[in-house]
Amino acid sequence: MSARGVAVLLSWLSCCGLAVWRYYSKSPDYRIFSTRSIIGLEYDGTSFTEWSVPETCNVIDKRFPVTELRCPSPGVYAVKPIVVGSEEEERYLFVASSHICFLWYYRVRHFFNNLTQSIIVWAYDPENAVAEELDGSAEEPSINSEVLSTQMATLGQKPTIYTILKRKVYLSNEKMKKGTWNIEIPMTIEDALKEIRGNQVIFQDCFIADFLILLTFPMLTIPEIPGYLPISSPPGSQLIAFRDTCIFACVVLVTDRETFQTNDSFRTWTRVRVPPDILSDDERQNVTDVILSRDGVIFYINGVLYLKSFRGFIKMGRTINLPDDGIAGISSRKWCWVKYLFKAEGRRSNLAVWTENEIYLGYILFKFARLVTTTELKNILNLPVTATVTIHSVQYTGHPLEIAVFLNYCIVCTITKKIFLVIYNEDTKQWISQDLTLDAPIDSVFIPHFMFSALPELILWDKHSIYYYFNNFTFTGILQTPAGHGNLSMLSNGSIIHEVLIDYFGNILVKMENNVMFYSKINIGDAIKLHLWTSNTTKAWIFLNTSGHTYFLYAFDDDVIQTQDYPLHLEAKSVTFKAKDKCPYMAFHNNIAHLLYFLDKGEALTVWTQIVYPENNGLYVIMESYGPKILEVRHNISFEVAFGYCTKTLLLTFYQKINYEGTDDYFGMVFQIAVGCDNKKFIAVKGFSKKGCPRHDFSYVIEKSYLRHPLSKNLKVRYNWKEYGCPLRLEFTEKFHPLVQLFDDNGYVKDVEANFIVWEIHGRADYSFNNTMAQSGCLHTAQTWNSMIKLNEHLPLEEVWGPENYKHCFSYGIGKPGDLNQPYEIINSSNRNHIFWPMGHSGMYVFRLKILDPNYSFCNLTATFAIETFGQIPSSSVYLVASFLFVLMLLFFTILILSYFWYMRIYRRYINEPLHKAPRKHKTN
Ligand SMILES: *[C@@H]1O[C@H](CO)[C@@H](O)[C@H](O)[C@H]1NC(C)=O
Ligand SMILES: *[C@@H]1O[C@H](CO)[C@@H](O)[C@H](O)[C@H]1NC(C)=O
Ligand SMILES: *[C@@H]1O[C@H](CO)[C@@H](O)[C@H](O)[C@H]1NC(C)=O
Ligand SMILES: *[C@@H]1O[C@H](CO)[C@@H](O)[C@H](O)[C@H]1NC(C)=O
Ligand SMILES: *[C@@H]1O[C@H](CO)[C@@H](O)[C@H](O)[C@H]1NC(C)=O
Ligand SMILES: *[C@@H]1O[C@H](CO)[C@@H](O)[C@H](O)[C@H]1NC(C)=O
Ligand SMILES: *[C@@H]1O[C@H](CO)[C@@H](O)[C@H](O)[C@H]1NC(C)=O
Repeated sequence: MSARGVAVLLSWLSCCGLAVWRYYSKSPDYRIFSTRSIIGLEYDGTSFTEWSVPETCNVIDKRFPVTELRCPSPGVYAVKPIVVGSEEEERYLFVASSHICFLWYYRVRHFFNNLTQSIIVWAYDPENAVAEELDGSAEEPSINSEVLSTQMATLGQKPTIYTILKRKVYLSNEKMKKGTWNIEIPMTIEDALKEIRGNQVIFQDCFIADFLILLTFPMLTIPEIPGYLPISSPPGSQLIAFRDTCIFACVVLVTDRETFQTNDSFRTWTRVRVPPDILSDDERQNVTDVILSRDGVIFYINGVLYLKSFRGFIKMGRTINLPDDGIAGISSRKWCWVKYLFKAEGRRSNLAVWTENEIYLGYILFKFARLVTTTELKNILNLPVTATVTIHSVQYTGHPLEIAVFLNYCIVCTITKKIFLVIYNEDTKQWISQDLTLDAPIDSVFIPHFMFSALPELILWDKHSIYYYFNNFTFTGILQTPAGHGNLSMLSNGSIIHEVLIDYFGNILVKMENNVMFYSKINIGDAIKLHLWTSNTTKAWIFLNTSGHTYFLYAFDDDVIQTQDYPLHLEAKSVTFKAKDKCPYMAFHNNIAHLLYFLDKGEALTVWTQIVYPENNGLYVIMESYGPKILEVRHNISFEVAFGYCTKTLLLTFYQKINYEGTDDYFGMVFQIAVGCDNKKFIAVKGFSKKGCPRHDFSYVIEKSYLRHPLSKNLKVRYNWKEYGCPLRLEFTEKFHPLVQLFDDNGYVKDVEANFIVWEIHGRADYSFNNTMAQSGCLHTAQTWNSMIKLNEHLPLEEVWGPENYKHCFSYGIGKPGDLNQPYEIINSSNRNHIFWPMGHSGMYVFRLKILDPNYSFCNLTATFAIETFGQIPSSSVYLVASFLFVLMLLFFTILILSYFWYMRIYRRYINEPLHKAPRKHKTN
């Protein structure tokens, strides 16, 4: 944050609250906090005397409440302000020695015409940057940065953009312009996590840090319409905010005066206002919850939901299958599972709405459907009919298919109730009771939040305490503070829990209404109180930014919004420094790079983890798995001891042992298991393309006798260029063996070795295969198109034969004896089975191909290719030539006959008239 920004913020924060002190680093998110950094100190309160800093650090003037500190050697430094009449908190600043001193600055331009983003990148030194570069608003590099970037470029520096999920690499292919590089990348929703990386180039002993960013399709904010009115929470209430699950930069914030939205982490924002005629003034000021979804902002007001979208502002009621009122709550997914959810779009919900007795799930485009009622739930869970069961809350878990339902349960509902948890699986449609029972006062309300973890692990909070359920519900309790109890209000002047932030790394940050904060981590039963960072009077919310770092958002009474980076990591280290807690291990590495792996049939996944720890500690790594037990796991542990340290390496291989051959419910099984088809996979036949032929559709005629099911007329068909591509032209003496290749969105993967079949989609049958069943090693007759059609007469051609009913012919147990000299119609990459063509005529064949091997893939892999055969006497034109010749001959004879009569007439005239007349004629001329 710039010095100006600090001053402005300070004037806001210093009013009338509790005294606090903070420190700053110039680099965003405190990324660089080293011996090279200037550390800004700031005391915010009265009666300040001076700063107490170690001798080894230099401070500009320790009598100023706002000053700068520099520590030239690495270490941990105790710093605190000395104040008359009170004791201020001491912090331990961890000053690192690092060779990383520069950062990447980036700016994005969106091009919707070709769906690309142009990323302009330059290097800068945060210690010598201009204010715009530090607060992220710079449009072009400062002089310093331009010189630095140009210098580094001459030394060989060149940034590239890596995507974390798909591991794509984008390079800058233009020359450096005015000290900036330009990298073009396609817009994407899925592959959002990107990193700007440079070469290992050193300049003045310094490297540039890699920079992680979350960059997706731009999400547009809804424009504000003049004349509309503000919508807000009740006067005096705390901030209410919602962050998009996948795009951290998209946030909606409700204050007690206005609602704001941003698509760039509050670098810019707009107000969300509503038309004057739909809500009463009281309703407009009574928002108690808000949700940001792809299609708009949903407000929860007094039991009713309202949607503000680009198209307007509407009440979400009976028109979209929701109750008109009495809604008790709404929730949406907490963890980003883009790839998984896109795979099954339309079948997975993304919103859950509940009343006291019913649960509704919302799908894309705001389609809602009722999931269950409490009466049905009582039945499903075998609860006594006399009991009172109501819905307490519905939340999405860390698992992409599951929804957790918390139920209030009581028989005599006067003083206490029990809270139960059941988890519903959207795929299997099963309800499973979990090992969670909480006794609570009848009117108590808990807010649950599931962790990003394999097993369902969660925390729940009321106003004062955090309940945790870790390790498959075996490690449970209330988060304990060092004061020996779990009541966080008692450690924060009676304030109540306002917000709990949980990130992908299991950090848990609890913010009280008066901005006192507590910190914990997944699988830990303790919480520590963090140093005060913000005065107790400021209205604040804490968020994650696009790099995954925490920042504070402050909303002031005159609609001013300020953001401020918060160094959670440094603050946690400072608080735990005195506790002398040691990390039991030195290093923990693994090669798990993806949130989601697709395991297709026959594929295995191997991951390794390695932990290094001091001898005698006896640590081990465990693997937890959740979900249907369809994967086998092989464990392989290796162990090494050297110089007092143990290194334990765990190698895990996941594989499948199920044989899908001959199972009847082949397709049914596919969808019950999480292992499945990556919809980015496709196959194609080698040698076919869309280049090298005119792009147009045309019609042609197939002679009726060439069809599998002869028709009374020739068949006229249309060649669909877009679907079939260019036909391959083959002489009809040339046999053809298709070679199938597998691709995914990164390109070629491998040649397909599995068995496949082909069929002509228009029904031609005037081609055959040159291998016979006997030559292929069959012991009984193999399946053929004709036999399969006979078996499945009711099915269309493309469904009569496939992996679901494939049986091989290599055993006496399968199939029937018979003529083994028939053509074998199954092809694979090694059996040299070729398609051959009739010699008598040329033709156009459009083939579809499908993988027959039931153990090859969960995907329905098919490909289409076209072949045009030609040869010397294209028999189809014999008739044409003959008829042409016939017409020609007819013409010739006609002319011949006509000329005969013509000449006969002339001749006859000469016969009838005497010859001597001729001279007279001459005379008259
Ligand atoms: C903030 O803290 C001060 C000092 O402890 C206290 O007097 C004041 O009432 C607090 N204000 C709020 C809003 O909690
Ligand atoms: C996309 O369009 C923009 C502007 O029209 C152009 O500058 C850019 O080079 C295009 N990118 C690609 C990859 O075609
Ligand atoms: C945010 O929305 C505005 C307009 O609504 C758009 O111009 C801008 O590009 C968006 N920014 C991002 C980072 O998506
Ligand atoms: C505001 O909403 C709460 C419940 O959400 C309700 O109890 C209260 O009556 C509402 N106030 C007004 C003025 O509508
Ligand atoms: C978790 O607990 C359930 C029920 O107690 C048990 O069936 C399951 O095997 C446990 N899972 C693991 C990974 O321990
Ligand atoms: C089928 O044709 C190919 C290509 O001409 C040939 O290599 C192969 O041996 C033939 N197969 C049989 C069984 O004749
Ligand atoms: C494959 O095709 C079958 C039958 O047409 C269909 O039921 C199934 O959903 C398809 N599977 C995939 C992964 O598309």
